Amino acid sequence: MRWLGNKTALLDEILSVARSAGYRGGTVCDLFAGSGSVGRFFRSQGSRVISTDLMSCSLVFQKAYLETIEAPTFSGIEDLWGGLEPLDLSRLSVLDEGQRSEWIPFLQLANYLENHLPPQQGFLFRQFSPEGDAGRIYLTGENAARVDAILEAIRNWRVSGVVTDQEVWILLASCIDAVDRVANISGTYGAFLKKLQKSAERPLELRSPAIVPGPPGAAHNEDALEWINGVECELLYIDPPYNQRQYPANYHLPEILSLLPFEDSDQKIEETLYGKTGLIPWKEKASPLCSRRGDECLRAMQKLIEGSNANIIVFSYSEEGILQREQLEKLLGDWSDSGTGANLNLVEIPYRRFRSDSEEGSSQTPGGRTFKPAPGRSMDEVQEWLFVATRKSNIERVRNES
Ligand SMILES: C[S@@+](CC[C@H](N)C(=O)[O-])C[C@H]1O[C@@H](n2cnc3c(N)ncnc32)[C@H](O)[C@@H]1O
Repeated sequence: MRWLGNKTALLDEILSVARSAGYRGGTVCDLFAGSGSVGRFFRSQGSRVISTDLMSCSLVFQKAYLETIEAPTFSGIEDLWGGLEPLDLSRLSVLDEGQRSEWIPFLQLANYLENHLPPQQGFLFRQFSPEGDAGRIYLTGENAARVDAILEAIRNWRVSGVVTDQEVWILLASCIDAVDRVANISGTYGAFLKKLQKSAERPLELRSPAIVPGPPGAAHNEDALEWINGVECELLYIDPPYNQRQYPANYHLPEILSLLPFEDSDQKIEETLYGKTGLIPWKEKASPLCSRRGDECLRAMQKLIEGSNANIIVFSYSEEGILQREQLEKLLGDWSDSGTGANLNLVEIPYRRFRSDSEEGSSQTPGGRTFKPAPGRSMDEVQEWLFVATRKSNIERVRNES
């Protein structure tokens, strides 16, 4: 799914800096997993990946990408889809051509969910479609009712034990991704558009998550600042939030979708909704790494890096972030044992600033923030930083190997 700050465009660069620092294999930890695409990429390269993120919707993608060992058979609910035609193969995002036939049951079940399961005018229809009383224009009434029915079906199958845990994660990942493609938003869920876009009027289409072959890993939904203390890995990839945008306030709808099948009923979540966009209470998931208050962000980052037990750290940040380059160089330099930054390298990658569709062509966001391009740069050009820090023990090992 689309995820603010996702590193899909930088995967080769991340691998290349890790290799240049001596990464030859071994466990990779993807500490701020988000969309899960970095972890999935390292799995496809043959690495065992462990990951975490505060968001439950991220957990869904981590689970699907890192823990899926074989294609789902959905044999416990075959009576529902067994006689149906599979949907078109183009719905398969499975990268390995050879595996495609194994995913036919998924395509038959997708046919059932899209075309045979009766829609339900439930929680999402009421709260997130223009046809509901709340008047929030995130999904068409038709798509919202379809998702209501799908999530209820997943919950019932899960509770009665007719689907496996992994089948639940795969279905949920497929559903959240499908919603993301028809959501009436520009960029994040922090606001809905006042008029339904053409893309939002398209019917919901389930696709298989892009599962890759590779060693199975482990997905988590833990606070990285605490969880890091128990983690040992060869390569630690750190991709923290870098500005004040808190993810739970910008991805509340995917978060709700990821929670619903694990609740007894929709009511418990529906009762907590508030505000124009239908947020669920999220303050306990607010990240200190998004804070500009005092040195809150710096202290949290220091705790994180000091607690890291890896041979190599690759660290992504933006030059527009809360922390300054010198602060990060000091933290990572200290970690690498030298204290001088001698074991620290920085690769600067120009990239296009993330702007929602409605912000295109303007120097101001709707929130009133004015972009100031650095001298000699275009309005949208910023530098993405990739720091790579190595521990002395690792440097000696690489030297001995060569
Ligand atoms: C820049 S995004 C990561 C993007 C990811 N690398 C990708 O390619 O999709 C930062 C992520 O950090 C997560 N996050 C923020 N604070 C966190 C914390 N204390 N522990 C775990 N995850 C956190 C957010 O939910 C968000 O997904």
